[in-house]
Amino acid sequence: MAVLKKLRSRLWAHDESASAARADDSGVDYSAAVNAYDALELFESHYDVRPLTLAQLDECWRLDQRCFVDGEAYSRETFEYLLTAPEAITFRAVTRGGAMAGFIIGLVEPDHTGHITTVGVAPEHRRRRLAHRLMEKTEDAFRRRHIRTVRLEVRSINTGAQALYRTIGYTVTQRLPRYYSNGGDGLLMVKALE
Ligand SMILES: CC(C)(COP(=O)(O)OP(=O)(O)OC[C@H]1O[C@@H](n2cnc3c(N)ncnc32)[C@H](O)[C@@H]1OP(=O)(O)O)[C@@H](O)C(=O)NCCC(=O)NCCS
Repeated sequence: MAVLKKLRSRLWAHDESASAARADDSGVDYSAAVNAYDALELFESHYDVRPLTLAQLDECWRLDQRCFVDGEAYSRETFEYLLTAPEAITFRAVTRGGAMAGFIIGLVEPDHTGHITTVGVAPEHRRRRLAHRLMEKTEDAFRRRHIRTVRLEVRSINTGAQALYRTIGYTVTQRLPRYYSNGGDGLLMVKALE
């Protein structure tokens, strides 16, 4: 996630499945395709991806606080800005019952790169490809805006999130010393969109 202070100037400017590998007789390994299919089926039978709007401000803010228990959760005001900014791309994953299970916020930066600002999935809904799906939706939205490069920041100790980003094609390009308010280092990860 990107830290709050990096967004402050913008705030003021706006006036405040792990299946076994399988091979058929031809020797072709279809396991990746089968896993992707299983994951898609699981996702589509249990969750929908919908736009995230100001109507979900409090629900999203509460979920963020459950996801970021390290003191880096965004304030309600920051979410209010992000959910109304024209340069923001925002989605939520919802259960069949309509509850928010995950969210993502991306920004189109002035230099016309994409920036994944934050992504979070409720602990009870993790490892079901929700974050993966939300990232794909956001990247598709960036592509529609003719964006070719996406970046994000992640804590150097957040190996789970780094694993997620690597599976989607992001690579570490830079270490960001003391990027986070508690003094923790960040990693800058970048992906070129095709
Ligand atoms: C990081 C986070 C968003 C991942 O959400 P998720 O919906 O569980 O992730 P997905 O199910 O889409 O993961 C897809 C793949 O990424 C990798 N991955 C995701 N979380 C992982 C973890 N904790 N450890 C290792 N690999 C992980 C795996 O390869 C996973 O595929 P698999 O489950 O088939 O092995 C979620 O754990 C979270 O909200 N964490 C707290 C907030 C946070 O750290 N956000 C990112 C800040 S930069």
